[in-house]
Amino acid sequence: MKPSILVARAVFPETLAKLQQHFDVQANQDDVLWTKPQLIERLQGKAGAFTTGSERIDAEVLAACPGLKLCANMAVGFNNFDLAAMTARGVLATNTPDVLTETTADFGFALLMATARRITESEHFLRAGKWDRWRFDMFAGSEVHGSTLGILGMGRIGQGIAKRGAHGFGMKVIYHNRSRLSPELERACGAAYVSKEDLLRQADHLVLVLPYTPQSHHAIGAAEIALMKPTATLVNIARGGIVDDAALAQALRERRIAAAGLDVFEGEPKVHPDLLTVPNVVLTPHIASATVQTRRAMAELAADNLIGFLVNGKPLTPLNPE
Ligand code: DGY
Repeated sequence: MKPSILVARAVFPETLAKLQQHFDVQANQDDVLWTKPQLIERLQGKAGAFTTGSERIDAEVLAACPGLKLCANMAVGFNNFDLAAMTARGVLATNTPDVLTETTADFGFALLMATARRITESEHFLRAGKWDRWRFDMFAGSEVHGSTLGILGMGRIGQGIAKRGAHGFGMKVIYHNRSRLSPELERACGAAYVSKEDLLRQADHLVLVLPYTPQSHHAIGAAEIALMKPTATLVNIARGGIVDDAALAQALRERRIAAAGLDVFEGEPKVHPDLLTVPNVVLTPHIASATVQTRRAMAELAADNLIGFLVNGKPLTPLNPE
């Protein structure tokens, strides 16, 4: 008999078909956002789950679903998993590292450029029919090439952004991370290690690429923003809870920093209402890894983790010990 799995969100039909070859699949192709009780109900009798960042797998879910052996996240981030609770219950967690690194770094740079060069703000102006003449200071933004790029969190995606900045745009790249990179990696990224305070003080453009943990909750709040240059921009492609969105909206309104580019939000898909009314912020709906090729690769890897573990006994990218 095939093991039973739950595919908790809509996926590519090809991914579903592949999973159906190996498993008895309950799928959510209508992409309904289930409540926790609905998720628990559907996980009954399932050995595995194909999840995304939207499904919270915590001690309560695990206690209610004793047959669950593996949750395969279609995301590199896994803050929707209580990893300690999963490990304690012997439930394996997997994510999708590597396959989205370059695509996400591309998007980080796109958001940086759009923010620094005021692309969406100026497009709104044009679409509103307000453009009636060329003007010397119209939508004058801040320089990207040759400026100082600060990166908070220097994992694979941070390194991808550093390389783009250093080698593509001639930027001075500084970073802060829990641990310092090896001298070889620092050279390859063209990046220098600094304290968090120096990073905040020196960056012209600050990009957040760190994981969301209890320690990184509101790593950027009013006090940190106060250290930044009034001309600086802030880009968040990591997780929403890393930035205090209310403090950021106020700082943007008061022009204590120049602009922000945000792909992730505290409590998303809800967005802090104050962020929706300030002009100097570029807002995108958590799409940093969203190219067709990369989303296919992420889905494929999540599916291969389910097959690898539940059929062949070996997951590809485990996050906790089996
Ligand atoms: C990731 O992979 O973590 C992206 O943010 C998509 O959830």
